[in-house]
Amino acid sequence: MSTMQPGLFDLFADHEPEQQPRAEQIGEQSWVLRGFALPLIDQILPALDTIVAAAPLRHMVTPGGFSMSVGTSSCGPLGWITDRSGYRYSSVDPLNGLPWPQMPSVFAKLARAAAEQAGFADFHADSCLINRYVPGAKMSLHQDKDENAYTAPIVSLSLGLPAMFLFGGFSRSDRSQRIPLLHGDMVIWGGADRLRFHGVLPIKQGRHPRLGEQRINLTFRVAG
Ligand code: SIN
Ligand code: FE2
Repeated sequence: MSTMQPGLFDLFADHEPEQQPRAEQIGEQSWVLRGFALPLIDQILPALDTIVAAAPLRHMVTPGGFSMSVGTSSCGPLGWITDRSGYRYSSVDPLNGLPWPQMPSVFAKLARAAAEQAGFADFHADSCLINRYVPGAKMSLHQDKDENAYTAPIVSLSLGLPAMFLFGGFSRSDRSQRIPLLHGDMVIWGGADRLRFHGVLPIKQGRHPRLGEQRINLTFRVAG
């Protein structure tokens, strides 16, 4: 655990001390910011509802032909997709051929503030991937490698049910740290850590007071 520099939480200055976020360093350039998004939750959740009403969550198919256990959508200029022909980014939703919903300004602001707190200034995400996990859904260990460059960090927000996040090394067989992620927590990894393997263990049964029986993860990236 390390203490954050003063002055960087201007967005959160009017919140109670017990709500002030805490930073945990999990790698050379990787951080968990506990509760970082909580002050903005009442703006984030309705914005999310609007996005998934326009671009519904769907179970995408991997190149190998497996249906993913998470339901996926996106907002912003580019959305990550997968189907039998591969993993890639698309400027349109393949379900309807329309551009993905715009990235809400509260998402962009939150992602930029979290990246800055983790030492990555000027983060301007052009993609926000939305993954919905119901109990039992998981994400196998993988690297985020479909982006054009790896200079920008990955910025992730967890909402709803808790998850056990696996934060591994640079090869799949490296030992992973197990990091519990709760509603409002953010994880940022970039620079030397940008290509670390990561994943999520199967979500346990439960009911979250705001989101019910689900976990939603938002992953902000510079893809294009
Ligand atoms: C991902 O790596 O795509 C998702 C990570 C998470 O759900 O926390
Ligand atoms: Fe990922």
